[in-house]
Amino acid sequence: MDVVIVTDSQINLALIQDLLRQVDGSKPHCFSDSESGLAWCLANDADLVIVDCRQPVPDGIPFINRLRQASNRRKVPVLMITSENAQDVRNRALEFGVIDFLSQPLDRIEFLARARNMLAIRHSHLLLSDRAAMLADEVKNATSEIYSRERETIIRLARAAEFRDPDTGAHIQRMANYSRLIAANLGWDEERQEMMLQAAPMHDVGKLGTPDGILLKTGRLIPEEFEVMKEHAAIGWEILKDSSSPILQMAAEIALSHHERFDGSGYPHGLSGEAISLAGRIVAVADVFDALTSERPYKKPWAIPCAVDYLEQGRGSHFDPRCVDAFTKDWDAVLEIMNRYHEKA
Ligand code: C2E
Ligand code: SIN
Ligand code: SIN
Ligand code: FE
Repeated sequence: MDVVIVTDSQINLALIQDLLRQVDGSKPHCFSDSESGLAWCLANDADLVIVDCRQPVPDGIPFINRLRQASNRRKVPVLMITSENAQDVRNRALEFGVIDFLSQPLDRIEFLARARNMLAIRHSHLLLSDRAAMLADEVKNATSEIYSRERETIIRLARAAEFRDPDTGAHIQRMANYSRLIAANLGWDEERQEMMLQAAPMHDVGKLGTPDGILLKTGRLIPEEFEVMKEHAAIGWEILKDSSSPILQMAAEIALSHHERFDGSGYPHGLSGEAISLAGRIVAVADVFDALTSERPYKKPWAIPCAVDYLEQGRGSHFDPRCVDAFTKDWDAVLEIMNRYHEKA
């Protein structure tokens, strides 16, 4: 335990040093002027500061004030040496956080008792803060483990959906990355962009509930079949809703709303404009663009310019114009995603 002694009295200095030899584990650091004592305290973690208040300038009170202002030294216990009758000085010192006083002339027994007490308190205090830091660390680790398990569960759920869906993992990766790109270009912060990347792959999870005869049909759907197909939006919502996970909450919204259209002609609820969740409006652009440029059991891939045309034609009717613009404004990034996740032969 580092004990700092600040006094211009050689007699007190020698006496305190001598007494501290009887205090186990204490190491004295002696300063005859408060400036160098303060400098040491600011650069090191003292465990006890003993300051003589009968010093020349700066006297003990400004010294303690400056010590307290250095925030990481706030908790250092300070003992002050004063004359017996200096009650006004003592009162001010208490205001500045002095813990206890030693009367001049120093009494050996009183000094030893006070110094030992204060170092014992300091010791328990340090143990407690170590424990608190350790607990904070454990909480942080546990939280990050929960987060990574959550991500794993989400990826597995998306994988389960992929088993039923003729769409490839590459489609899911592309549309998720397009969705993040649109979110980024709309000014979403990094954390929300990352959530979008995690949530978008689940947009069609409701197709788990679509019969094979319809899901895997190679030709066009008849209207009755398309009505069944449309249920995948609400089924996805049922699977994902009411989660406490923000990613799953976003995924549920996306599943429900990615086939709504900006002019209100979409499904399942025929919502229009801002009534459609923004995440859903974003995914609508990403999903349709990728569906058009990909092969499906029921269609050939479209050429890229035709797909872009389709988005432009759908501005304000099918799609939120802001989301179309956010997608087309950084075309190099779109092509980069397209090339990064292409179908394996
Ligand atoms: P999907 O194949 O992932 O397509 C997603 C969306 O992309 C479609 O939503 C539609 O808005 C757009 N899209 C995809 N292909 C075309 C196309 O050839 N022309 C145009 N104009 N738009 C296209 P939608 O229409 O609500 O369909 C939802 C899902 O229903 C589709 O997901 C697909 O799984 C299924 N589906 C739709 N039409 C047919 C079809 O004629 N035959 C089969 N077998 N399935 C279909
Ligand atoms: C996947 O769909 O398999 C990947 C999902 C993800 O990266 O979050
Ligand atoms: C689709 O339902 O896949 C597209 C409908 C259309 O061709 O307009
Ligand atoms: Fe869908």
